Amino acid sequence: MCGIIGVVRLSKARLGQPLGQIIRQSLEKLEYRGYDSVGLACIVENELVIRKGKGKIKDVSVTQGFDRLNGDVGMGHTRWATHGKPNDINAHPHRDCTGRVAVVHNGIISNYSLLKQELLARGHRFMSETDTEVFAHLIEEKLAAGYGGYHAFKAALMSIAGSYSFLALITQEPDKIFFARRNSPLVLGISSDALFVASDIPAFLEYTDRVVALSDGEVGFIALDGSVVVEDLASARRVDLSGRIRKIGWTPELARKGGYPHYMIKEIHEQPRVLADTVKSLLDDGSYQRAAEVMLSSKRIFLVAAGTAHHATLAARDALLTLGGMVSYPVVSSEYALHALGVEEGDCVVAVSQSGETIDTLLALREFKERGAMVVSLTNMMDSAIARESDLQLYTKAGPEIGVAATKTFITQVASLVFLAAKLGVMNGKLREDEYTAFLKHLEEAPELVEKNINISEPSAKELARILRDRSSMYCLSRGLGVPLAKEGALKIKEVSYIHCEAYEAGESKHGPISLVARMFPVVFVASDTGTFEQLSSNLVEMKSRDAYTVGLIPAGENHTLAGFDYTFTLSSALPVINTILFAPTLQLLAYYLALSRGYDPDKPRNLAKTVTVE
Ligand code: M6R
Repeated sequence: MCGIIGVVRLSKARLGQPLGQIIRQSLEKLEYRGYDSVGLACIVENELVIRKGKGKIKDVSVTQGFDRLNGDVGMGHTRWATHGKPNDINAHPHRDCTGRVAVVHNGIISNYSLLKQELLARGHRFMSETDTEVFAHLIEEKLAAGYGGYHAFKAALMSIAGSYSFLALITQEPDKIFFARRNSPLVLGISSDALFVASDIPAFLEYTDRVVALSDGEVGFIALDGSVVVEDLASARRVDLSGRIRKIGWTPELARKGGYPHYMIKEIHEQPRVLADTVKSLLDDGSYQRAAEVMLSSKRIFLVAAGTAHHATLAARDALLTLGGMVSYPVVSSEYALHALGVEEGDCVVAVSQSGETIDTLLALREFKERGAMVVSLTNMMDSAIARESDLQLYTKAGPEIGVAATKTFITQVASLVFLAAKLGVMNGKLREDEYTAFLKHLEEAPELVEKNINISEPSAKELARILRDRSSMYCLSRGLGVPLAKEGALKIKEVSYIHCEAYEAGESKHGPISLVARMFPVVFVASDTGTFEQLSSNLVEMKSRDAYTVGLIPAGENHTLAGFDYTFTLSSALPVINTILFAPTLQLLAYYLALSRGYDPDKPRNLAKTVTVE
C-alpha cells in the first residue's frame, strides 16, 4: 500500500539535515509496504517544489535530488499503483492547475471518474491518470471561491467518496500540512523538534515514539508554530488530544535491520523474545479474563481475519474445540458479507489483525457489530482502527513487524489465542486445573523451545532450499491440529519464494491432489499433532511410493512412528496446540532461504503490501 509522510520541522538546530533528506529517510522506513514510484513536495520560499519518479527510492532520490531540497514543511509518498500505470507522471504528489496545491493519497476515491468529468467540463487540466489528482483540483476550486487553505481542504473532502488518508500542502498557508483520514491509516508523531503525520509509525520512529492514531472522519493540520489541530470533519468539532498521545515505547533499533540482511530473518530471530513478552503479558493482562467471559456467555463465536491472521484463527478454532470444547466459526474477512447473514445479537466476533488496519477485517467487524455482535480484537497495534472499534482490545507484543511476510506476529497471535481457549476451557470445566497448569507451563517454556528450533532448523533450511530451489510446485500437508500451520507454511513459501505451494489435509490426497505427484515432487509433512501420526504415516507411504521428495517436521523422539522422510527436521515439541508455535519458524526459515536461493528479495515480495487498506 502507499506510504505517506509529512514533516513540519520545528527546530533546525536539532534536525539539521535538509528536509528532503529527512523525508527520503522516512520513506525508506515505509518501503516494506510495497511501492512502484516515489515523490516528495516541499514548500520552499512559499512556493511548491515537487520531485517524483517511477522506481526505487535509492535511484529516484538521486536523479531527482531529494536530499538537496530544503524548507521546513514537506511531504513524501511511495505509490502502489491502483488507478493508472506505475510511471513518473502518476507518481504522487499531484498538483492542481495553478501549482499552489499538492496532495498525496493512500486509498481509493470511488467517485473520481464522475468528479474528473465535472472538473474537466469546468476547464481543469489533468496531468495524471490517478484518482488522487481530482482532490488537488477540488481544493483549487474552493480556493478560487475565496476559502482559506484549511477551509478549502475540508470543503473539498466533502465531495470525496471512498477511502483515504490525504496530506496536502497549500501555498496560501505555507506553514501547515493538512491531513484527513477515512478507512486508511494515519498517525501523528509528536516531538519538540518536529511534527509528523504518516501512514505508519516506523516512518518517524527515529525522531519520536509519542503518537496519536487518527480516527476515521478526523481532519486537521500540523503547523510551524507547533500547533496540532484535529477536528471531526462531519461536526467540525475540535478533538481534544490530551488523552490520546501515547508513548509506544518502540525504539528505532527495533524497526531497523539490526545487522541482519533482511527484516524477515531479523523478525524470525526475534521470535523467542517477542513470544516471551507476549506470554508474560497474557498472564498479567486482565483483558483476557474479560474476553473469555464475553466469549463464554455468547451464543456463537466468529473468528474474523485475513491471510496469516486467518491461519492463526484456524489454530484458535482447533484450540477452542480441544481445550474448551467450544465450536467457533472462522471467517475469511473478505467473505464477511455472506457470513454476516447468520450473525445476531448475543454472538461474539474475535477480529485478529497484526496491523489492526486491514480493510476487509475492519468492514467485517463493523457489519458484525451492526448486527449486534460483541467485538473482541487481537492486534499488534495500539489504537489501530480495529482496536478502537472493538468492545474489548487484546494485544500481541510482537513489536514492529516490517517484513511483508508475517512471522513473529503469527506465533504471538497463536499464543494469545490458544491461551484464551485454555482459559475458556478451565472456566467452563472442560479443562481441569492441573491440565491448565500444565498448559501454562508448556506455554512459558515455548520461547526457549522456539529458540532451539530456530537454531536446529536454520542450517538445514538453507541446505534444503538449495535442494528444492528449482521446483515450481510443492505440497505442505498435515492432519488435525497441524493443518493451520501447514496452510501458513504454504503461504510463506509461495509469497516470498514464488514456488506454488498448496496446503491441504493429508487425508485429501487420494481425493484429487495426488495426481500431481511424480518423481521428486516436494511434499512437506507438518507432523505436529501426535494424535494423527498413524494416518500421517500412511500418507507418507502414499507419497513415497510415487517417488515424491518428502520432508518431515517431526517432534524429537518420534522418529520410530514417522520415519523414512528424504529430509527431516527433528524439533523440540510440547502439546499439539503449542507445536503450531514451536514448528512455525522452521517453515518460515525454509521460505526465507528458498527466496534467497532463487534470487528474490524476501522483504519485497512482488504485488504484495504489508497492510491491505483497500478492498
Ligand atoms: O495486518 P493483518 O494481520 O490484518 O494482515 C492480514 C494479511 O494481509 C497478512 O496476514 C498477510 O497474509 C501476511 N502479511 C502474509 O505473510
